[in-house]
Amino acid sequence: MKFKIKNINLKKFSSPCVVLGISEINKFSKLLNIFNKSTKKYISDFILKKDTIISFGKLTLLYNTLNITPNLILLVGCGKNQELSKKEFIKITSKVINFLYENQLQSSCWFLIELPVKKLNIYWKIRIITEIIGDKLYSFDIFKTKKSNIFKIKKINFCIVNECNLKESEIALKHSLSILKGKNISRDLSNTPPNICTPFYLSEKSKLLSEKYKETVTTEIFDANKIKEFGMNAYFSVGKGSNNSSYMSIINYKKNFKLNKKLIVLIGKGVTFDSGGISIKPSKNMDEMKYDMSGAAAVYGVMLFAAELNLPLNIMGIIAGSENMPDGNSFRPGDVLKTLSGKTVEILDTDAEGRLILCDVLTYVEQFDPDIVIDIATLTGACVIALGNIVSGVMSNDKNLVNDLIKAGKLTEDKIWELPLHSEYKKLLSSDIADFSNIGGPKAGAISAAMFLSFFTKKYKWAHLDVAGTAWNTKKKKESTGRPVPLLCQFLLNKSGYSY
Ligand code: BES
Ligand code: ZN
Ligand code: MN
Repeated sequence: MKFKIKNINLKKFSSPCVVLGISEINKFSKLLNIFNKSTKKYISDFILKKDTIISFGKLTLLYNTLNITPNLILLVGCGKNQELSKKEFIKITSKVINFLYENQLQSSCWFLIELPVKKLNIYWKIRIITEIIGDKLYSFDIFKTKKSNIFKIKKINFCIVNECNLKESEIALKHSLSILKGKNISRDLSNTPPNICTPFYLSEKSKLLSEKYKETVTTEIFDANKIKEFGMNAYFSVGKGSNNSSYMSIINYKKNFKLNKKLIVLIGKGVTFDSGGISIKPSKNMDEMKYDMSGAAAVYGVMLFAAELNLPLNIMGIIAGSENMPDGNSFRPGDVLKTLSGKTVEILDTDAEGRLILCDVLTYVEQFDPDIVIDIATLTGACVIALGNIVSGVMSNDKNLVNDLIKAGKLTEDKIWELPLHSEYKKLLSSDIADFSNIGGPKAGAISAAMFLSFFTKKYKWAHLDVAGTAWNTKKKKESTGRPVPLLCQFLLNKSGYSY
């Protein structure tokens, strides 16, 4: 599949299929007039006969337009308003891509970019269109011996009539394609079954990144022994019951030599299968716990994105891989563990394992004196109850960081919502014999989990994204969504000074 920006000279233009917006206002726009002429008034004759074609979302395919190129014109009804809303623009784009797909139109030229859309400039229109199309065309069928998607859309040209828009359009496309690449690889990793996608597998994938981006990326791997030796006891304990032992992969992306001190750390919960351990989960839908590494997969995708775009930043991505299984070697309810920070935790539920892994990694990264640390985790079922599948939860010790993340989420339609971290919630985690317990009881579960993490994040600005409700969906089929890759990529773009 290829996307291209094309600066069109309408006098010399030829294409087998063009996609044109038509509305009450621009019925006879310059663009339409030109095509009208080249098709010997085919379009205007048609409109005269049937004026419903401008109604919003209506698609009309004009074909055999007197055998003059373009042979096919797909007219897209844009309704009666001066400008489209962002939602309408998204709707139209989805409809067109579905239409091209169903009618097996492999190659087309889109003139939709120049449609006026409220509050969206050319950069954002291209970003939105490309990302929607990318989503529509994603499929994960490597384990199907019979592939369902035989037909592929091969080429989409975004046509720019106004040359001033060319540069910005090209930047937008570049950004979109890198985000898409990161998001798709993240989805692939999350969708991969847990007998294949093990902590070791994630570490091998992490090494591949440094092989591919030699100039900017280095990878360091901690195996379970090293995790234990380092004193990351809580992390180590989670993986003790599994034959697929823990691996922590540290992916270092370094580009900003001048501002060497500013480091952004991204930590992903990488539980490749969460059975619950000794506090075993009910068997219904337990297969979905292969997605418990979605945070790690997001970090992986975002690191790929950063390297792909050569962002002027220093970013450390940590894939905290582990598998939570019941076994004679497993950690148990009642155990007291000493974390890397020195603080002790009483385990009251082995299914609250994510926070145990993360707390040690959060302490581990202190030594690098990071400016910002963001952890991404499918951490609590309680977050799904609180926010559903629409927005991810964010909890943080820094208001500006939250605002920056919320802004990036809005821009990319990868939305998040802040939950409070008031100190009154701390007492939920009290333990009779250790510094705290690893669970906070039935109330405010997403918050008590984040509260637990906050004990380990005193030395830097920190935000926690709970993506338990958003990282995968079960609507049409069970599939990873790639969230929050778009949000994080946008956050980094904004940090790099690309803000449009
Ligand atoms: N990975 C789960 C959280 C989860 C559950 C994500 C369902 C998405 C859907 C996590 O490790 C977990 O099991 N959390 C427990 C915590 C509890 C024992 C305090 C939960 O949410 O039930
Ligand atoms: Zn889990
Ligand atoms: Mn669990």
